Amino acid sequence: MPVGYRDHLKVLIRNTAIQKRVRAVAKQITKDFRGERVHLIGVLKGACIFLSDLIRHIDLDTSLDFMAVSSYGKGQSSSGEVRLNKDLDTSIEGLNVILVEDILDTGLTLSYLRRILLQRKPKVLRVAALLDKPSRRIIAEIKADYVGFEIPNDFVVGYGLDYAEHYRNLKDVCILTLPPE
Ligand code: PRP
Repeated sequence: MPVGYRDHLKVLIRNTAIQKRVRAVAKQITKDFRGERVHLIGVLKGACIFLSDLIRHIDLDTSLDFMAVSSYGKGQSSSGEVRLNKDLDTSIEGLNVILVEDILDTGLTLSYLRRILLQRKPKVLRVAALLDKPSRRIIAEIKADYVGFEIPNDFVVGYGLDYAEHYRNLKDVCILTLPPE
């Protein structure tokens, strides 16, 4: 871990609050899909922590798969180009699919994933995002069905979210301010 960066971390959402909200989202999913199976798809890598907590609070028959994507030109010059690095292992045809994301930002990644997943004919496709930054949205109609927290436009790390692959292990979601170069 780069020495000194920790000095620029400020807690935004404490783990106790995250856990409480994750339980509430899981309870809502359990209610919405009562008596049915849900197939959770985690979008690597950021969603892995949220997904692992969420699935343990869903009181239904569940199954699990993962996808990995990378996007180019994120931020101001977002190109909207998304590359699929790892596809699903199994078919989702006829399944109640919940796509699990750590953060919904511009919406470009989710827009791409929705398009390719809907082509595969799931019974329903819902989206659960731990964090939502609506102020950053480029694609206005992109929304999550289950949102943990709406947050302002700060750069956040922890609970799965990274800066250059660091900080995913922090228990809290923190605002990271980088020192000037
Ligand atoms: C994050 C997040 C989403 C995407 C959201 O992934 O997990 O997939 O960005 O951003 P968007 O709404 O602007 O498309 P990231 O590229 O940081 O990869 P990671 O999950 O491996 O950290």
